Amino acid sequence: LASIEVDISSLTEGMSLTVKWRGRPVFIRNRTAKEVESAKATAIEELKDPIARNANLDHDQAATDLARSAGEGKENWIVMIGVCTHLGCVPLGQAGDFSGWFCPCHGSHYDTAGRIRKGPAPENLAIPPLAFISDTVVRIG
Ligand code: FES
Repeated sequence: LASIEVDISSLTEGMSLTVKWRGRPVFIRNRTAKEVESAKATAIEELKDPIARNANLDHDQAATDLARSAGEGKENWIVMIGVCTHLGCVPLGQAGDFSGWFCPCHGSHYDTAGRIRKGPAPENLAIPPLAFISDTVVRIG
């Protein structure tokens, strides 16, 4: 399928869902306020990959928390392709040194905005094309 529509109405704060899109897992997470705050508090200079890697934005957009999230007013939502940018394993959620995602294959730690912070992965987890078609349905692709 080129695009999918996902009902996210059951995802209360702190809940995640993994769906499949183009044969790959996509993580959808309703981040907690604490997760958003901690990602916002991180300076771009601290990031290993300072680029947003968000298919919905210009390719050189900086990896601020807002640019990684679903955007203004939807900062709690993060939607990412669940494939480690090192060699393609599927990272585990709410794990690792930055309480974001952790790839157990070779130890890559991603933060609560899915940005690579430690380990061999070169890039932040990729954000696919997405659009909220209502408050409770997100289209991916
Ligand atoms: Fe994730 Fe190597 S595939 S750290």
